[in-house]
Amino acid sequence: MVASFGDQVLQGKKVVVSAGPTYEDIDPVRFIGNRSSGRMGFAVAQAAAYAGAQVTLVAGPVGLATPAGVAKRVDVRSAAQMHAAVVEATDGADIYIGAAAVGDYRPSAMATHKLKKQAGADLTLQLAENPDILASLSAGRDHPFLVGFAAETQNVESYARDKLQRKGLDMIAANQVGDGMGFETADNAITLYWADGSAELPRADKSVIARQLIERIASRYKAVRG
Ligand code: CTP
Ligand code: CA
Repeated sequence: MVASFGDQVLQGKKVVVSAGPTYEDIDPVRFIGNRSSGRMGFAVAQAAAYAGAQVTLVAGPVGLATPAGVAKRVDVRSAAQMHAAVVEATDGADIYIGAAAVGDYRPSAMATHKLKKQAGADLTLQLAENPDILASLSAGRDHPFLVGFAAETQNVESYARDKLQRKGLDMIAANQVGDGMGFETADNAITLYWADGSAELPRADKSVIARQLIERIASRYKAVRG
């Protein structure tokens, strides 16, 4: 344990991190997912634990080992399950970091049996919108300090600032995905935005980015909640 890391701000704080994709089942053998590897979120959970926080990691379907020092891990599959797990875990929590790539939509109905191909015909899948986990937390009273992620392929700053405001967040970590960056890679580069500031975390291994992110969260948390 490095005494100066996170400036002791996170010592004993209850931090919840969500990570990975969600899978929305279509039928017993098919689902809608996304390309999140979960590595960024797992690295963030590890960095928070290293800073002395009591960490609960809510993980979507990923094949990753629980990072050292993480107090509790809850495995989920769908956005609805992640929503329920995060709501439960954030009860009384100090900080929630939403690093998960939550599916925006789910099939309106899950088929009990495998859908059969109708040869020669197109298939239309009807989707229903999933609840927004971060927005639902910020709407509640006494909610934790909220940190979101925004993976964008264009207009990174304007989309990220819009999410910061729309979802009622304290901070957002934005990155440009595509061109070999972001999902499924070992490196990441992010820009952090908050109401009256921003900070660049230049391209580095996700574990390095995670530690820098946790330090920034700690200092911002101290400024607004400390
Ligand atoms: N998020 C969430 N619940 C959802 C969707 C997203 O909590 N149902 C969180 C993510 O964990 C992330 C942040 O919101 O921290 C931004 O996710 P993103 O997918 O970029 O935002 P959306 O509002 O879904 O916008 P879009 O996908 O259209 O860019
Ligand atoms: Ca989304």
